[in-house]
Amino acid sequence: MMFESFRKYKALIIVIAFFQLGGCSTQQHIDNSTTLSVIDSVNGDKSVFKKSRKRIGILTSGGDCSGLNAIIYAAYKKAKALGYEVIGFKYGVHGVIHNQYIVLDDRICNADILQKSGTLLKSSTKVLTDNNGKLLSKAEADCEIIKRYHEMQLDGLIYIGGNGSIGAIKNILKKDTSLNIVGIPKTIDNDIANTETAVGFATVSEVVCNAIENIISTAQSHERVFVVEVMGRDAGYIALTAGIATGADVILIPEKKYNWENLVKKVEQSYAEKKYAIVIVSESVESEEMKHKSSKLSDALLRKEYGGIAKVIAKNLKKSGLDAKSVNLGHIQRGGKTVVADRLLGQKFGVQAVNLINQQNCGCLLGYQNNQVIGTNMNDIKTTTRNLKVTDEDVILASNLGIYLGE
Ligand code: F6P
Repeated sequence: MMFESFRKYKALIIVIAFFQLGGCSTQQHIDNSTTLSVIDSVNGDKSVFKKSRKRIGILTSGGDCSGLNAIIYAAYKKAKALGYEVIGFKYGVHGVIHNQYIVLDDRICNADILQKSGTLLKSSTKVLTDNNGKLLSKAEADCEIIKRYHEMQLDGLIYIGGNGSIGAIKNILKKDTSLNIVGIPKTIDNDIANTETAVGFATVSEVVCNAIENIISTAQSHERVFVVEVMGRDAGYIALTAGIATGADVILIPEKKYNWENLVKKVEQSYAEKKYAIVIVSESVESEEMKHKSSKLSDALLRKEYGGIAKVIAKNLKKSGLDAKSVNLGHIQRGGKTVVADRLLGQKFGVQAVNLINQQNCGCLLGYQNNQVIGTNMNDIKTTTRNLKVTDEDVILASNLGIYLGE
């Protein structure tokens, strides 16, 4: 009798489940006694384990930066104290979809990792594929993550990422509100909304300052002009911060247009005064002859390719009679010893993410504002990126210091 009525309503149950998942075709629930297959990359073996404790997943997504290991370390410590086991997904979301993860322990999460840049969980900016290598659309990837979250019997997921990741978390939560996901903002670019600073920015600022100082000594010795290109994508935070901290003469950021004649005038004036000059340029700044092109990562994903603007500016300064050289700092900006500020911020975020999961108060993005960690509900996040504004304290500071920032 019961079986018959179940058959009657089965179709209806499937339709309701489909709409609850916002269009994902299946949701599998496996009870706590189910055995899972684990690829443990630490010993390289395929081992098997049962869920005997509450379980938190953690992943690092997108470009790496300093402070990621500090987040992982602190999340592990707090989770362990609260009785959770922690699954570290490898290569970001790729590891969630493809069942690649390690079970964190004290050996992996030892204090040495606090100072190490990069991510022990590895990361990936590659497009996502299914098990057959077929490209997954964003919506398909979201559904896969939801499915895997349930299959893995997670009690929470700590999703460490940049602004692209925040958009992904929002979409996942729209499809399945039962997921306990906490987003942690990290990026050297510092362009994430809802936080005054992201994990990784303090270290990149230090690394870039040190590199510029190495250039200043040779610029002074040879009485040259140097144009230094820094990362940051479409936001000028790295250029502005490092430029102010090292006493640059010109800082070109994507948020402000520059005038070539005024730029040359400023460089000539600085050079006349001190016999060297430093121009810092953010990678996405363009010139008349250099417009950045987009390259296709997949059908859905276009990404602008940056790199080379410093060379173009130096070449043009040479035409104006200045002995100008260019340096593109490139990926050294993503490494270096993690500075104390990133170690602390990362650990504050890691602990708070676990606390929120433990309280089942999830679906939010952590941020740092007015010297404290805050959580913003994903539904309240209207925009995921932020940029420099003319009213920002550091933009005003640069102008007060006589740095040419554009028009
Ligand atoms: O978003 C971080 C970042 O380092 C940017 O500043 C830079 O444009 C980009 O990543 C470089 O990405 P990739 O390592 O994929 O070349």
